[in-house]
Amino acid sequence: MARLRCIACGATPDSAAADFRCTSCADLLEFIFPGWAPGAGAFEPAVLKALWLARRTSREALDQSGVWRFRELLPHIPAEHAITLREGNTPLYEMPRCARVAGVQNLRAKHQGMNPTASFKDTGMTFAASSAHQKKFKWVACASTGNTSASMAAYAARGGMHSLVLIPDGKISWGKLSQSLDYGALTCQLRSDFDGCVRILNELVRQKPVYLLNSVNPYRIEGQKTAAIELMEQLGWEPPDHIIVPGGNLGNSSAIGKALLEMHELRLISRLPKLSIIQAQGANPFYRSVKEFGGKKIEPMTADTLATAIRIGNPASWKKALRVLQATGGEVGEVSEIEIAVAKAEIGADGIGCEPASAVTLAGLKKLRQRGFVKAGEAVVLILTGHLLKDPDFTIKFHRGDLLGGAPGETENAQTKYLQRAPLVLDANLGAVIAVLDAAERS
Ligand code: F0G
Repeated sequence: MARLRCIACGATPDSAAADFRCTSCADLLEFIFPGWAPGAGAFEPAVLKALWLARRTSREALDQSGVWRFRELLPHIPAEHAITLREGNTPLYEMPRCARVAGVQNLRAKHQGMNPTASFKDTGMTFAASSAHQKKFKWVACASTGNTSASMAAYAARGGMHSLVLIPDGKISWGKLSQSLDYGALTCQLRSDFDGCVRILNELVRQKPVYLLNSVNPYRIEGQKTAAIELMEQLGWEPPDHIIVPGGNLGNSSAIGKALLEMHELRLISRLPKLSIIQAQGANPFYRSVKEFGGKKIEPMTADTLATAIRIGNPASWKKALRVLQATGGEVGEVSEIEIAVAKAEIGADGIGCEPASAVTLAGLKKLRQRGFVKAGEAVVLILTGHLLKDPDFTIKFHRGDLLGGAPGETENAQTKYLQRAPLVLDANLGAVIAVLDAAERS
């Protein structure tokens, strides 16, 4: 049986308040599983692994979901409430070109952008939206930089619920906004940033019977844990040395870290990978918390980065993320706008592609490798959180050389130039096409 527990004061309420904050100390809640205590013999690792593998051939919707397939490690939600789009089941790719630029021999990427709404949010949303359905809510809501809202809108629609989206006006990509509209959400663009949207939403859920689907909702974290379980299964339960994730509101890193610790406790894996978290330099409150304040406090900031998914100045789950960072021995990193843009094009050049926020992982890996935290022979997995087509505007601007308004390194840097592929406008003339083909072959 799963129980809720406050991460700060340890209170174990029977149910959560509307804002998912502890009613004693206002900190975050998490699910714990008292039956998994060492020696309790909760699960036989080999039996669980065989069960999960067998479900891959099942015709049942829940077994086909890469989240619900691992339901033994999640709180119980009855099957009749499960809303699934067969999320999860995302590929783990080898990244040979990126491995060379990063200076490591064994680099893979788990592409969470290959989920039904094209971001990692679906793994948490299937579970949390199902809990809303179980609790008979008519309305669900979230504040978002775009991906959460797209995902929530889809799952609410599938579950016959209404959804309310609060997103910053401007500074979110059209790809994501258009998803929310098509999935039928009531979409409000607030004249504020993500952190402002969160503030309004927290007040709203205290007044209206609306179910909060941001990652402070611990059901979201439970669903997102399955990305790490699926990753270990794909690696034959042989953990890599490093896992690298982008950090925004810090729910995803908290979830992946929680899964690693739980799998270790249950002896599904024999050692812990180091989980490192990378932020954009312009949205780096967690990086500064660790580097400047030893993780003792966080100073909210006004965030700014073209990686709009992680344009977050006051991350809700920073204490959870800190705990898994410390427990796994991971590092924090920060990367510049040009480093993000270059890394994104490099991931694209491996035939994979991702959205800007996901590319901080490769940019961060290069720095962790240079500092010697990651060794050349160590196995590394990057978590790519969103699909390339989420933000085509960023991609086109980068290739045209006008992403950063001529900032240093944007066009004159040889490496950047080598990656840029601006479209060529030509006369409809065979000779013109052959001329550019010949020129490309020579270069
Ligand atoms: N990558 C992408 C593509 C994201 O959309 C987000 C967060 C993150 C990384 C960071 O994950 O917040 O769990 O640390 N997007 C949120 C949203 C906040 O509203 O879609 P995190």
